[in-house]
Amino acid sequence: ARIQWYPGHMNKARNQLEDKMGLIDVFVEVLDARIPASSRNPMIEDLVGDKPHLIILNKADLADPVMTKRWQKQLAGKGKLVMAMDALHANNMQILVSMVKKAAAEKVKKLEAKGASDPVVRIALAGIPNCGKSTIINRLVGRNVAAVGNKPGVTKGQTWLKAQANIQILDTPGILWPKFEDQAVGYKLAAFGAIKDSVFSGDDVALFLLENLRKYYLGDLVKFARATKEEIAKINNPDLLLALTTEYGMRDDYDRFSLYLLQRLRKGKVGRITLDRI
Ligand code: G4P
Repeated sequence: ARIQWYPGHMNKARNQLEDKMGLIDVFVEVLDARIPASSRNPMIEDLVGDKPHLIILNKADLADPVMTKRWQKQLAGKGKLVMAMDALHANNMQILVSMVKKAAAEKVKKLEAKGASDPVVRIALAGIPNCGKSTIINRLVGRNVAAVGNKPGVTKGQTWLKAQANIQILDTPGILWPKFEDQAVGYKLAAFGAIKDSVFSGDDVALFLLENLRKYYLGDLVKFARATKEEIAKINNPDLLLALTTEYGMRDDYDRFSLYLLQRLRKGKVGRITLDRI
């Protein structure tokens, strides 16, 4: 699920998204709750315009709940609903369905006033690689349909997938590019697997992560390091990386340990870590 973005891809994806906007009632933007800012497409607000907009902070089960609450408030606005969820948890699909209905309420009301009963609500999902788009679509539809090609700018045409409660989903989730405006954003995307592991060296990402854990999640770092706060305070990040490499039985192979650390992070085994602070 990792993509290299080029200007051609971005323009194509942008145009496709623009074309889709006319077909749908609600635009569903999927963000990674651990990096709600870094996982947002920089042009999305412009593209969505006045269309009802539902933002999902997905993988909330892996994110810091305090930060998730703040992001929920921060992102909500006129015509914009925000919900946090864990797409792997079955009950959450019911909540998502009711949020989609809420977002589409105005249109549904209009159609019902004209005599339609329970009119169809059409949605499209979009988000950066690995944020959980296919998982959400598959669960909404109740079977595995979204085998995401993960090729930017590639569309399979316009097929509507029937989901529960008269909701229809555009078959191909839109793959959005994140913003690459600074190195910290790049490291955050790499840390959570939204960009290829080969874009940055693993130890650079690991060092960036250790710095953030020190600052915001010292308790989790202490546990992971099997050390004390005092011991951690005494050494710098490169030395800490080497010490952890040894502690985890990898001698001096810090490249290998760095990848291991990132894998643990992505699975939530380091703690509930949010790297976009608010
Ligand atoms: P995408 O279409 O946006 O690229 O993402 P996809 O649904 O393929 O999901 C990527 C990975 O994230 C999958 O793990 C999926 O199970 C997991 N995932 C999706 N939503 C959630 C969530 O809300 N909470 C948690 N904890 N995990 C979620 P995977 O198949 O193991 O892939 P990978 O981790 O090996 O890449």
